[in-house]
Amino acid sequence: MKVAIIGTGYVGLTTAVVLATLNHDVTAVDTDKGKLGLLHAGKVPIHEPGIQNLFDKVRHTICFTPDVAEAVPEAELILITVGTPLKNGGANTRFVKQAALEVAQVCHPDRHYTLAIKSTVPTGTNRHVAKIIEKVFAARGVRGNVSVASNPEFLQEGLALQGSFYPDRIVVGADCEEAVNTLRCLYQPILEQTFDSPSSLPRPAGYQPPPMVTTDPNSAEMLKYAANTFLALKISFINEIAGLCEKVSADVTEVARGIGLDSRIGPRFLNAGVGWGGSCYPKDTAALLGVAAQSEYAMPITEAARTVNFRQRGRIVEKLQDALITLKGKTIGILGLAFKPNTDDIREAPALYIIRQLIKEGANIRAHDPVAIQNARHALNGFPVVFTNNVCELTHKADALVLITDWEEYQNMDLKALAKRMNTPFLIDGRNVYTPQEAEAAGFHYIGIGRSSDRVRSYAFDKSEL
Ligand code: UGA
Repeated sequence: MKVAIIGTGYVGLTTAVVLATLNHDVTAVDTDKGKLGLLHAGKVPIHEPGIQNLFDKVRHTICFTPDVAEAVPEAELILITVGTPLKNGGANTRFVKQAALEVAQVCHPDRHYTLAIKSTVPTGTNRHVAKIIEKVFAARGVRGNVSVASNPEFLQEGLALQGSFYPDRIVVGADCEEAVNTLRCLYQPILEQTFDSPSSLPRPAGYQPPPMVTTDPNSAEMLKYAANTFLALKISFINEIAGLCEKVSADVTEVARGIGLDSRIGPRFLNAGVGWGGSCYPKDTAALLGVAAQSEYAMPITEAARTVNFRQRGRIVEKLQDALITLKGKTIGILGLAFKPNTDDIREAPALYIIRQLIKEGANIRAHDPVAIQNARHALNGFPVVFTNNVCELTHKADALVLITDWEEYQNMDLKALAKRMNTPFLIDGRNVYTPQEAEAAGFHYIGIGRSSDRVRSYAFDKSEL
């Protein structure tokens, strides 16, 4: 199928590569000349495991252009994958509307197109976009024939290819059967799992072909917000329980294991930690509350999920304060800057908030990340952070080590060697990667999330132990 993709961010580029791998004829549009330059030179501008490899295989079949007029007229399907950044407490759909307007300006009047919005947009946007397109056609004095559909995306950064080839479901919200059929045809190889799996991405054992959920556009748009908000509040819930575990000497990892075995609850997204970040949950929960406010509808659960989440970042600073008495002049090593592993994305990353707070309290910060240093350096411009590519350098005469992102390379560190180099070997494990036992056996004073504060208090007050 001839597909035009408007926007080559995480979603757009991943979609382009995946659809090209499925032998669709893809043209991708982006106004960012720098990004297009990289793509033309064969370089993927995002850090996403496996994507460069797959891109190398299909890049000669994908056309990248800044020009909508080059991509749209001959396409059967147009996918809008532009950003919807937060603005005034809501999602800014300006780029989506602008893309739709430009598409309508270059469509052949006598052809049928399906335009599907993959960007996360507030309920009602699809129908609004359909009206914009009608207006453009009216101004052009043509009838035009574009069916607008919602096709929300559920891929996770760091697992984007996996989520695209082997999704849990595909959602299509449309008012007309034609659009549903076009999208069913596009995704047929995925819906029926008839494609040859790329060697780097074997089909997961036991994976079943995904259902296609067809519904109306408003419900599809709401469904995407509800999915992200539910996941965000699941994490906030376990973080709230973690806080109470600390007060009553329980271990949240044990609690999560026990409740996750209940098939109604499930084990995933129950890892207590420093809280969620990234470009989705913070923005989407805020945007959902924005829609609710406009509708004069209270959403206390969503509000609470956000409150708990942002409190969680502050808990790391409090734990350090408890352990070190004062942060002034203390040297703290930060493990992980990206908002999650396997990405260089630092948008709303808890690490950045924590670093800024610690510096405000007078601490000296050294920071490591396998891939996100460049982005973090830019975001923390003006903050005196020493970045290093060597984990060992974080610990030289340091007063505490804080694990913020659960990168795989932090999961098997030589804790003994690290602890030995430190002034006071505190490990604040913001992702509960280690057990208190193994960290303590290696010489660390271990402080996790939701794992009894008794130990923390005794370290704070009995310095003779150090
Ligand atoms: C999220 C959703 O998972 C995707 O389905 C959705 O398509 C995407 O947003 C989007 O709207 O574009 P993403 O933000 O890439 O994906 O990352 P997640 O894997 O969901 O993680 C979000 C945050 O939650 C991270 O900071 C992660 O560290 C944190 N998290 C996750 C926890 O703190 N605990 C957990 O148990 C799981």
